[in-house]
Amino acid sequence: MALVSAKEMLEKARDGKYAVGQFNINNLEWTKSILQTAEELKSPVILGVSEGAGKYMTGFKTVAAMVKAMVECLNITVPVALHLDHGTYDGCYKCIEAGFSSIMFDGSHFPIEENVAKTKELIAVCKKKGLSLEAEVGAIGGEEDGVIGRGECADPDECKKIADLGVTMLAAGIGNIHGKYPADWPGLSFETLAAVKAKVGNMPLVLHGGTGIPTDMIKKAISLGVAKINVNTECQLAFQAATRKYIEEGKDLVGKGFDPRKLLAPGAQAIKDCVKEKMEIFGSVGKA
Ligand code: 13P
Repeated sequence: MALVSAKEMLEKARDGKYAVGQFNINNLEWTKSILQTAEELKSPVILGVSEGAGKYMTGFKTVAAMVKAMVECLNITVPVALHLDHGTYDGCYKCIEAGFSSIMFDGSHFPIEENVAKTKELIAVCKKKGLSLEAEVGAIGGEEDGVIGRGECADPDECKKIADLGVTMLAAGIGNIHGKYPADWPGLSFETLAAVKAKVGNMPLVLHGGTGIPTDMIKKAISLGVAKINVNTECQLAFQAATRKYIEEGKDLVGKGFDPRKLLAPGAQAIKDCVKEKMEIFGSVGKA
């Protein structure tokens, strides 16, 4: 199946009161683990690529070519969107050219007027090409690709302004943070989420910073209009723990245990387990 825009899968999720997971990819193992799990569970999926990860994988063209070929070679039948995560203005154009099926323009650090102007321009380009576009209002906290935010709550009126431009989905800051949540994190602001939802109506909402949010909060967020949830750090931690265990147990020293296909296998399995757990919580299993 060819890559698809995220529009249809997110509208179905919004109407069906579940969320589609965006899982960020870093390399071949990541991509393979996520695609295989989505296929096994018959779940739609969004593969997220940050600008840093794109650079690491030698460029967005490499990423698009790898993902497209893998979807074909693994006979993936569930809907897969390849999505730029927190894109810069230039990064968005590079991904559109490379063949991504969805982009996020993160203009949250621009004054609202500039965010509006740039988002508007990109919406027109995406509409022509049939791509979905995510916009962000209110910087999401934590650190991602060296950018540190505080976990702001978005202004519902600004959300409406951006939503009305015709974006496909909207990420609104509701106190969520990328990476691990600190022990004194006050939790998601459902008050903000409800106020945003009241202003933007049917627009599918996106929850960033999916790592470590308690299940009850995830479910409540979905009930209030969240249709896409981004997870990155949790897969990284799962991969790290499994790889550490393999080496600490000395398995790399036995036979051909040094072979990267063996060395990376426990980490790849850990990513699959993590993605499975998230898809079950998000309710997207069997929805493809
Ligand atoms: P986490 O790394 O906290 O899971 O956040 C991922 C994310 O929001 C990517 O945009």
